[in-house]
Amino acid sequence: MAGCTLMAHRGLNTFAPENTISAFQAALDNGINWIETDVDALGDGTPIIIHDTSLDRTTNRAGSYYDLTAADLPKLDAGSWFSPQFAGEPVPTLRQLVQFMNEKGLNANIEIKSNEQGKKETLRLIDNIIAELEELSPARKVIISSFNHVLLHIFKQRAPKLPVGCLYETVALYDDWKSMLELVGADYLHPEDNFLTAERVKEIHQAGFGINAWTVDDPGRANQLANWGVEGIISNVANTLMGITGAKSEK
Ligand code: G3P
Ligand code: MG
Repeated sequence: MAGCTLMAHRGLNTFAPENTISAFQAALDNGINWIETDVDALGDGTPIIIHDTSLDRTTNRAGSYYDLTAADLPKLDAGSWFSPQFAGEPVPTLRQLVQFMNEKGLNANIEIKSNEQGKKETLRLIDNIIAELEELSPARKVIISSFNHVLLHIFKQRAPKLPVGCLYETVALYDDWKSMLELVGADYLHPEDNFLTAERVKEIHQAGFGINAWTVDDPGRANQLANWGVEGIISNVANTLMGITGAKSEK
């Protein structure tokens, strides 16, 4: 068995605030060298690491970050909501994440959020992400994923060497998935875990695509998916899944 890669969802988000350098370091500290993370852009085009489209849930500010520039980043606190221990934790830029990956030997499944400002800003986001990833050490591994498959198709055309994965919620995984992945030029399908079957896993593999399932927190289910040959598992509690069949933390 090639082994099933564990990816810490938004970093090890039970140990440190999600999508922060501390959460990525916590993954490494617990033997997990793959993280899943989310990227969108500030109003000036700077790619930042954040899940929601608003600042409300995970920072000390409210509203949209589409109105902000890089000069505003030092005013954001992405840690206090989680614990006073993490007060002042910055919202990382993608540039900072790339530097961290290079320095620490971390690999990343980078989910590009479906930017809500339209075509021009979406294309700028794609180009800015590609430019930042050019600084990534060749030793590092990356997968680019998105629920926005049109965006992903354009990304793959502009950066054909980078592997990409189409994210699917179970309700959206229609029978045209193979056509969609081939049209995108995808390398992976990233299915929601719920209702994923051994038969579907086999079909996806036979069509030539890898599988990274999300978000899997139950050890029994993780073990089952690993035994089915799923390439990766994205988990909120990746640290608890280290013993599952075939699990690996590969540099
Ligand atoms: O990449 C898997 C997962 O992160 C997708 O959903 O909303 O947690 O970004 P979400
Ligand atoms: Mg995500």
